[in-house]
Amino acid sequence: MSEVAATDVERLQDEIASLRGQLEERGRLVLDKERQLERYAADLREAYKLEREHAAELRGSYMATVRALSNAVEARDAYTGKHAERVAAYGLELARATGSPLAVDPQIEFGFLLHDVGKVAIPDAILFKPQPLSPEERGLMERHPVIGWEILREVDFLGVAKLVVRSHHERWDGGGYPDRLAGEDIPYAARVFAVADALDALTTTRPYRGALSIAEARATIRAASGGQFDPSVVDAFNEIGDDRLLAIRSTTS
Ligand SMILES: [Fe+2]
Repeated sequence: MSEVAATDVERLQDEIASLRGQLEERGRLVLDKERQLERYAADLREAYKLEREHAAELRGSYMATVRALSNAVEARDAYTGKHAERVAAYGLELARATGSPLAVDPQIEFGFLLHDVGKVAIPDAILFKPQPLSPEERGLMERHPVIGWEILREVDFLGVAKLVVRSHHERWDGGGYPDRLAGEDIPYAARVFAVADALDALTTTRPYRGALSIAEARATIRAASGGQFDPSVVDAFNEIGDDRLLAIRSTTS
């Protein structure tokens, strides 16, 4: 090999060694970056897990508060027992049957549980009067949705639940109270709730009558479709089997 060629080979070998060094250095940098990213991803996973735990805790606290408030209302009335809990379970089942996104709205159960919170302001003499109410007494009784709505107005986490409290006695035909809303002007959650509430009222023993069977309650609700109730909600209600309704009743009695 000539001297010139030998020098070229040495230069080439130096260049290769230098390139190899650069490549190894780059490899180390890439590895460092990968490790940094892995640490970052692990931190993110941990933060996400903590955030989810925190959200679940918060939701649990909200639910406990709502249940405490709902139980305080129910404790006055020996006849309805676990009415709020039962009607909330019927309402959620019905919301699922309608196929609307309502069923996955976490606030809706709060509204179902608290629908009658305004009754705290109604005197016992009116709330438990066995005889028919006088027009003045009826007027006071019919204020309970607005009173409930006013009690909860400032509670932000209740969101649409407050609409159920205010509008649960509205009727599809416009003959309800307190705002005499009709048809689709009535918040959908309140229209769903109205059917669930009627089902529970009809199938529960009252001082003035015995409990109706589910078949009898179905017939009564069907007859009020398009009058008291949104026909589409009644249609969804008809899709729910008796066995499902009986299962809800047995777990909430
Ligand atoms: Fe009510």
